Amino acid sequence: CGIVGYIGHRQAGPILIKGLQKLEYRGYDSAGVAVHDGDAIQIRKKKGRVMEMASLYKSNPVSGTAGIGHTRWATHGETNDQNSHPHVGGNADVVIVHNGVIENYTSLRKQLQGLGYVFRTTTDTESVAHLLSHHLEEQIKFGSDPEELATYLKAVEITLTKLKGTYGLVVMFRDLPDVMIAARLGSPLVLGVGKGEHFIASDATPLAGYTDEVIYLADHEMAVITRDEIEIFHRDEGQQKLSIQTLDQVSVEAELGEFEHYMLKEIFEQPQALENAMRGRLDEDEATAKFGGLNLSAQQLRKIDRVVLTACGTSWHSGLVGEYLLEEFARIPTEVEYASELRYRNPPISNSTMIFAITQSGETADTLAAMRECKRKGHPTLAICNVVGSTIAREADGGIYLHAGQEVGVASTKAFTSQVMVLIQLALFLGRMRHLSYPAGRRIIDAIHKVPDQIRKCLECNEQVKDIALKYCNFNNFLYLGRLYNFPGALEGALKLKEISYIHAEGYPAAEMKHGPIALVDEATPSVFVVPRGQIYPKVMSNLEEVKARKGPVIAIACEGDDKIADIADDVIYVPDVDDFLQPLVTAIPLQLLSYHIAVLRGCNVDRPRNLAKSVTVE
Ligand code: G6P
Repeated sequence: CGIVGYIGHRQAGPILIKGLQKLEYRGYDSAGVAVHDGDAIQIRKKKGRVMEMASLYKSNPVSGTAGIGHTRWATHGETNDQNSHPHVGGNADVVIVHNGVIENYTSLRKQLQGLGYVFRTTTDTESVAHLLSHHLEEQIKFGSDPEELATYLKAVEITLTKLKGTYGLVVMFRDLPDVMIAARLGSPLVLGVGKGEHFIASDATPLAGYTDEVIYLADHEMAVITRDEIEIFHRDEGQQKLSIQTLDQVSVEAELGEFEHYMLKEIFEQPQALENAMRGRLDEDEATAKFGGLNLSAQQLRKIDRVVLTACGTSWHSGLVGEYLLEEFARIPTEVEYASELRYRNPPISNSTMIFAITQSGETADTLAAMRECKRKGHPTLAICNVVGSTIAREADGGIYLHAGQEVGVASTKAFTSQVMVLIQLALFLGRMRHLSYPAGRRIIDAIHKVPDQIRKCLECNEQVKDIALKYCNFNNFLYLGRLYNFPGALEGALKLKEISYIHAEGYPAAEMKHGPIALVDEATPSVFVVPRGQIYPKVMSNLEEVKARKGPVIAIACEGDDKIADIADDVIYVPDVDDFLQPLVTAIPLQLLSYHIAVLRGCNVDRPRNLAKSVTVE
């Protein structure tokens, strides 16, 4: 979910709406704003995209210079108008927006209902709003001054002690129109410092164009924000000195240009993105790669005897490619862990283990939590990240940026291939500190140099893939199969199809298929075989024959020059013949295009698929 807040001298509504549009990548189930009009807090909220709420607002605007807004990715309670944020507490004396999950909301709800509070939504957040209103009333009942800020601060403080779970929240009070209070535990919030105006948001994206001075709120901190002042209090340490940082204002708004969707545009940006991921990182003389930001000495790097890669979604798939690469080139035992599992598991991790969080957005809640858990135990924790200045990028001890540029489409494309490109270079770098010879390093570098042009070549299959998509777009089940480096590729291909076309697709190691998924094979279940030539090409071909023998239609992603496969598979998409370790890069292109065109043909919202968010900031 995304949060934005403004208090200053301009009209708040338009600033909030613009901010929410920039935060939509965090969720687009519903959106809402609350603006203080001097007497009361007026709310406009609606199910659906920010645009829909914006037109509601336009037909019924609110005049006021302080307000808060929210764009939602539903956790508790279905997506409808009532469940949209902001939420109102008590008799509308309190209005809040909230990111995160309140785990004890059911018991809070019961207690508050017992006290006579009427719930209008099925969200966890409404409990917080009523609870705050309750404590505010209590404060006033027992003699605190309703005109004094201290009364409100106390009520917020007490409320926070009753919450279990995570929150980034911003509160406005009907009877204190010139103040906002924000609090954070586990869900990021950043304050933007202006002149006679202040901003608050769940990340810095909406601040671009207004200010480049920011303050990141830490866990257990509370901020009191007025037009002219910001004060920060820590739960245990009292008032904090303000630590203002300067943002890199590189927010170039992504434009669609000639493309129909961001996803297609981003697929076509991959040659450039990969060049950016390589720029300045290949050391021809030493036949290795170099990275500026790892913050580890050569001695420390040489001591590493295990790598743990942790990530979610597509980034987990690039991590799986990373495991194969690091083990092959650097001979370092590597594991790739789902961040949502790692954060609660307690695997033994030695001091010589290097931990990498892989994330496009740098905001994924589970990845952040897994990284923090590793940090807590004293391990140096690095990140491979796209978004500069994101929470994970800031909290990691060091890392590598992708430089892929903004990725807008919810289904990750150029971030995936850029992550793989970074991991290839990382494996080369660590390999050359160990067993990998100079000539082997040179061969890898020469191969890497050719990749952007090979990807350009792959993109030429777009029209052919469109035709294939037309043929297959009405099937409802797909298998994606590959082995070795093409197994993660198959998983990623299946995920792409699921995400944007809502077709059930399963990715599997091609040979493992005979232990279960082969039971699904029939005329109505196409299999996409990722089968470029390589070490075990004949073995994968046998798996392909097994599917054909059971009348399963086959789309093969194969190497140029492989004429034989055209006689067996129903459709073939050719990619350039590359080394095994580069196959996930070249085969990613037809896989992405296939899911894209199928989704378009099925009339799906490619860039904003249902139920998903670009960045999942809740657990
Ligand atoms: C969401 C997105 C995926 C992405 C995953 C991890 O589920 O829809 O495309 O792969 O989060 O995101 P991250 O930003 O951490 O790579």
